[in-house]
Formats: sequence, structure tokens, C-alpha cells
Amino acid sequence: AFNLKGRSFLKELDFTPQEFGFLLKLSADLKAAKYAGVERQRLKGKNVALIFEKSSTRTRCAFEVAAHDQGAHVTYLDPSGSQMGHKESVRDTARVLGRMFDGIEYRGSAQANVEELAAYSGVPVWNGLTDEWHPTQMLADMLTMQEHSDKPLSEISFAYLGDARNNMGNSLLVTGAMFGMDVRLVAPKSLWPDSKMVVKPAKDLAKQTGATVTITDDVAKGVKGVDFLYTDVWVSMGEPKEVWDERIKLLKPYQINDKVVKATGNQNVKFMHCLPAFHNRGTKVGEDIYEKTGLDALEVTESVFESPRSIVFDEAENRMHTIKAIMVATLGDQ
Ligand code: CP
Ligand code: NVA
Repeated sequence: AFNLKGRSFLKELDFTPQEFGFLLKLSADLKAAKYAGVERQRLKGKNVALIFEKSSTRTRCAFEVAAHDQGAHVTYLDPSGSQMGHKESVRDTARVLGRMFDGIEYRGSAQANVEELAAYSGVPVWNGLTDEWHPTQMLADMLTMQEHSDKPLSEISFAYLGDARNNMGNSLLVTGAMFGMDVRLVAPKSLWPDSKMVVKPAKDLAKQTGATVTITDDVAKGVKGVDFLYTDVWVSMGEPKEVWDERIKLLKPYQINDKVVKATGNQNVKFMHCLPAFHNRGTKVGEDIYEKTGLDALEVTESVFESPRSIVFDEAENRMHTIKAIMVATLGDQ
């Protein structure tokens, strides 16, 4: 076993593949224990702060339910509910919260903020999404792929289509490399990830783990033979509305639809999405875009999203079990 007590969870690259594997195993164990009704509380009496400078459904609820299951108490600070960044520096906020809380979750824009919180609070800090990385999502995605495949992760292939320069593209590339997978980012060149921050470390990891790392703008080539297709919204939280027109133009060829499913050549290919999905009408974003352009599907069509190959809600559930594992490993009684 690995001792991660006292560690923060800021980005995937801070962990060895073995440590990440350990967190994945712990997630599966905690999930099984909850289902069997034999969960042991290892966070009794702990106080946890949840700072959200961007909105959230899954991540917030996952932290709250996981903490409650494990006997911890949470305090939720919404985007307008704290002084941080407006009237008080991240450093000072960190030192205040560190005096009251045993662990802190932070979702916001700059990775530098979550790093600074960790440096100054003196308690474990968990990254609930930044512009650069979404590491808690990665454990949920790996657990979900494992559950939906007969193969070990190191034999699984997946293709992520869409904005490969956002937190999801970055995190999926590095995590796929870490687990020795066949990981492919399929996107127009202008939306490929940063080479120094993401591609180089992913390729270095791949040399260690035997992963295959592919970045391509060719959809047919990128999706051929994959076990999982993955996508995310075309415009992320914090990006200006004005980028929509350009993104639609750039990313329409990368929409996951029946044609792309067919191009995989794999009848059993599964569909994943971190959610929320703006995929269709029925969201405010989807309605506005439909009115303007007549497009009734964005990153994924209804035919794929609502099909039996879609495992997006298993994936969403797994956010809770995996976030629980992160808190238990870094804060829990052994
Ligand atoms: N996938 C994810 O992080 O969802 P939320 O934005 O709802 O937390
Ligand atoms: N790329 C998306 C992910 C949401 C979970 C965003 O940052 O908005």
C-alpha cells in the first residue's frame, strides 16, 4: 500500500503511476464497501472546505456526499461567498482556512491558485478543476473504463474528440500515458495541448509505461479501433461567449455522431463525457446556438448520447467514489 497521508491532489503529474493505481484500487474498494453496506468511516471529525469559484453539480455533490459517508463535515463557499481573490489574497485565505479546516477543495481558473493554497494552508488541498487540469475527473474516468471493459487499462484505447487544449484534453492525455493506454487526442491543430506542459510529460511517461500517445486532426485515423469515444463541451467555463462561433467552425467535424461511431469499426465502442453536456437543445447554450445557426447538436448527437453505448451516468456516479478515495487516502485514519 502507499501512504499518501498529508499529500495534496493538485495535478496528475505530481503522482507516480503506482500511486495513481493505488487511488484507483481504493476507489473500487470504497465503492464495493458502500454497495455492500460495510463502509468504514475514516474521516470522522474532519472539517473540509469546498471553495468553488466556478459552478459545479457533480464535483460539489461528490465531495459533499463522500464526506458525509465518511463522517466528515463540509463548508461550501460559492463564487461570491468568500473574500478570496477579491478582497483577500489566496495566500492569506489559505492561512486562515488552514487554521480551521483539515482539508480544502478548490475549483477555479488558474492552477497557480490551487498550488498556492496548498503551499500556504498546511493541509491537503484537492483540485476540483482549473483551466489547466481536472485530476479528480481522471480517477472517475479510469474507474469507469475499467468497469466497462474486460481488459486491463494498459490494453484499452480511447479517443478524445473536441477541444484538446482544455483541462480535459490535458488531463486525459497525461492520465492515459500514466496508465499505459493507447490514448488519442483528435482535434484541429489550433486546439492541441501545450507541448511543454502536457505533450512532453505525457510522452516521457509513455516511455516508462508503454503507452501510445497520438495527437491527430484526422478523425478516421484517430478513432479507428478504439474502445471508448470521449468528448467535452466546445467552450469551457470562464471562456468568453465570443469564442463560440469560431469553436463551432473548428469543432463541427469532431462531433461524436453515428458516423464517428461507425468509423471506429468497433460495434461495442462506448461513449463517455465528463458532463455537463451542451450537446443539444434542452440546455440554454444549445437553444441559443440552435436559434442562431440551426445546429441541433454540438459535441455529441442525441443518437449517441442516449444510446446504450453511453456510459456517462456511470461515469458521473464514479466521481463520488473516486473523490472519496482521494480524501480518505490524503486525510483519513489508516
Ligand atoms: N464533470 C464535472 O466536473 O462536473 P461539474 O462541473 O458539474 O462539477
Ligand atoms: N472543460 C470543461 C469541463 C467541465 C467539467 C470546463 O472547464 O468547463
